[in-house]
Amino acid sequence: MSIDFSLLPTPPMGFNTWNHFHMDITERLVEDTIEAFITQGLFDAGYRYVNIDDGWMAPARDRRGRLVPDPVRFPGGIRRLADLAHRHGLKLGLYTDCGTRTCGGLPASYDHDLVDANTFADFGIDYLKHDWCHVPFEDFPGLSEAQVAETLYTRMSEAILQTGHPIVLSMCNWGHGHPWEWARGMAHLWRTTPDIADTFAGPTPSGVLSVCEIFHRNVVLADFAGPGGFNDPDMLEVGNGGLTPIEEETHFALWCLMAAPLLLGNDLRALDDHTRRLVTHAGLIAINQDPLCRPARLMGSEGGVHRLQRPMADGSTVWGLFNERADERTVPLPMAMDVAGPVQDVMANRTYERTDARVSVPGHGIRVFRTG
Ligand code: GLA
Repeated sequence: MSIDFSLLPTPPMGFNTWNHFHMDITERLVEDTIEAFITQGLFDAGYRYVNIDDGWMAPARDRRGRLVPDPVRFPGGIRRLADLAHRHGLKLGLYTDCGTRTCGGLPASYDHDLVDANTFADFGIDYLKHDWCHVPFEDFPGLSEAQVAETLYTRMSEAILQTGHPIVLSMCNWGHGHPWEWARGMAHLWRTTPDIADTFAGPTPSGVLSVCEIFHRNVVLADFAGPGGFNDPDMLEVGNGGLTPIEEETHFALWCLMAAPLLLGNDLRALDDHTRRLVTHAGLIAINQDPLCRPARLMGSEGGVHRLQRPMADGSTVWGLFNERADERTVPLPMAMDVAGPVQDVMANRTYERTDARVSVPGHGIRVFRTG
């Protein structure tokens, strides 16, 4: 049995509660976020998934063994939120975990795949993030972590399929056991790295990685992503305060180039103009959502400037020049860009007037061009 690839022909675009709100989530936040999708132009830009992460369940299952929403934080229940999202043309996502408890310590889906998948189908949700905390490895003697992951994610994948309800499955085992090598057909996307930190580069607390570290780990996996199955280098940190405006642009553009999920992780009720313009940038989103779904490849790096290239479905090519260092650099334009016809400066939204064979890239910045 294989998942329905058609549910996710291009990377998901949406929002997830975790990066900004952690466990501190309520139904009011979800309702306000749904409203913000409409009023802030996010729906018009293509964002659809409103994803509730850890923190939605009550501390215990009900008497019939089902997961239930926390009665204080989600008194109206999940079904009502899914209906609200659907009335606005949006989709609702929810979270559980392969282990005995979620990372935040709430009840999770180990040995409850069928009952939980049926609950999620009854709720009417469209997307499930399936995490990897508190997995009882002692129940699988002799199996590697990758083999345990294949076993447990297959169980949930098949449990979802038997409900007959279309649900995107997002695997979240942080790249352990190289899921990009075996998860296609089992899940629609798979995390390739540990959690992202709201930091561009440099030291991060243990267990989390900067934007630059995640870029390096994910970009080399370009071959494994394609329609229906995507590398997931974690959710976005734009708008959360830890990145400069230029770093936010680079983070967002790199995720677009890598065909990564565009899951906003900031407070959409307080979206500033710079972040709104960035995350609704039509030229960047068109790259991310290109139906060919071929993530950019790293073609080479010189002096901290990385050259990226991505083929597009219409035969055009996207080029990225990403300057990881803090000082501005002037570098040669990619040779192959030297073709007849106009060059589009994607981030600047204008035709690029080539006066020189070299181009400047700000410190921590990116230039994105499209030709052909
Ligand atoms: C893990 C995941 C995060 C988030 C938290 C929730 O760390 O990788 O994305 O879902 O758990 O507790």
